Amino acid sequence: MSKQTLVVDLGERRYPIHIGSGLLDNPNLLLPHIHGKQVVIVSNTTVAPLYSQRVKAHLSDYDVVDVVLPDGEQYKNMEVMQDILTTMLEHRCDRTATVIALGGGVVGDITGFASSCYQRGVNFIQIPTTLLSQVDSSVGGKTGVNHPLGKNMIGAFYQPQVVIIDIDSLDTLDNRQFSAGMAEVIKYGLLWDRPFLDWLNDNMKALMQRDKTLLRQAIHRSCEIKAEVVADDEKEAGVRALLNLGHTFGHAIENAMGYGEWLHGEAVGAGMQMAAQLSMELGWLSADDIAYCEHIIQAAGLPIQPPKTMTIEDFNTIMAIDKKVINGVLRLVLMKSLGEAVLVSDFDPEVLQRTLSHSLGQ
Ligand code: NAD
Ligand code: GLY
Repeated sequence: MSKQTLVVDLGERRYPIHIGSGLLDNPNLLLPHIHGKQVVIVSNTTVAPLYSQRVKAHLSDYDVVDVVLPDGEQYKNMEVMQDILTTMLEHRCDRTATVIALGGGVVGDITGFASSCYQRGVNFIQIPTTLLSQVDSSVGGKTGVNHPLGKNMIGAFYQPQVVIIDIDSLDTLDNRQFSAGMAEVIKYGLLWDRPFLDWLNDNMKALMQRDKTLLRQAIHRSCEIKAEVVADDEKEAGVRALLNLGHTFGHAIENAMGYGEWLHGEAVGAGMQMAAQLSMELGWLSADDIAYCEHIIQAAGLPIQPPKTMTIEDFNTIMAIDKKVINGVLRLVLMKSLGEAVLVSDFDPEVLQRTLSHSLGQ
């Protein structure tokens, strides 16, 4: 049960991220972060039967409430969040209750948001079980739900007490979901760390075969980058926006196709390639860079183009309500070079239209 521990350094709200094998069976990582007598485990119909008992095994001294959500991005909404809050009220959970999110990013985001609201905020623990949630969504405190008019539009910054990443939980994850998580891993290389990108490129085959040593290294470096960025800019006033590389295009794909149709990571894969294409249009990336991006995204089993059913108009309409739109101006995360992202607002709108046209083949 060897583990590595990183820290998200947010002063009084600093918290550890534990990464390793077999960590679900280690009570010493969990119990110090539970303060009251009530523990609410929020999971879903897929993950609860797989892992809930392993967490509960440490909680015989506590009053445990189970909340099992329906599975799917389409359930990351206000109604389901209300159900979590209702269950907590029905069980008379008080302000000392601790809420554990056990699952992927959907469970983590909605549970974190419910924790931030319940009696103005209760203790919250992340136990992420997908690759995407282990490298991205469980770290950094972005919580929330989708709205029919936009993804992740309702939410709060609310940091967990601890993040426990048991890489063995990925054993039960299917290949499509695993690929989707790899999109966020590649994202860190593209936006921040060229040597890491090259390491991923060299090792992608073995990573996709789930070599545990390499996987742990990839998760560790991803969390390290995320922790560094979040510690610098918790509320996304600056550098944190770079973590959204590929996401403005990606969110438009998810929204247009209907939440859950394209996985978030798949949409981010195509979105990163679109961001690379726009960066080339601006003269920052070369044709070789574009080919490199295409290769690594495809090697992770991800799409490099948006769905053929989408139109330029779809992108323009949906991107107009992206969270990075400020005073009506769309800001995009692009790449000055591979491994160096920038947030750009003063690009020629024609260049964006050319990129959309190229990516959609329209
Ligand atoms: P998800 O939570 O829907 O999980 C994917 C699927 O895998 C689900 O069917 C789930 O039940 C199943 N699953 C989870 N763990 C499993 C396991 N160990 N074995 C078998 N099946 C398992 O999707 P996701 O990709 O984890 O997260 C996507 C969500 O995360 C999106 O809503 C996205 O907006 C959000 N997100 C948030 C942040 C953030 O900073 N908060 C960052 C990135 C993404
Ligand atoms: N996933 C982007 C962020 O956490 O800021």
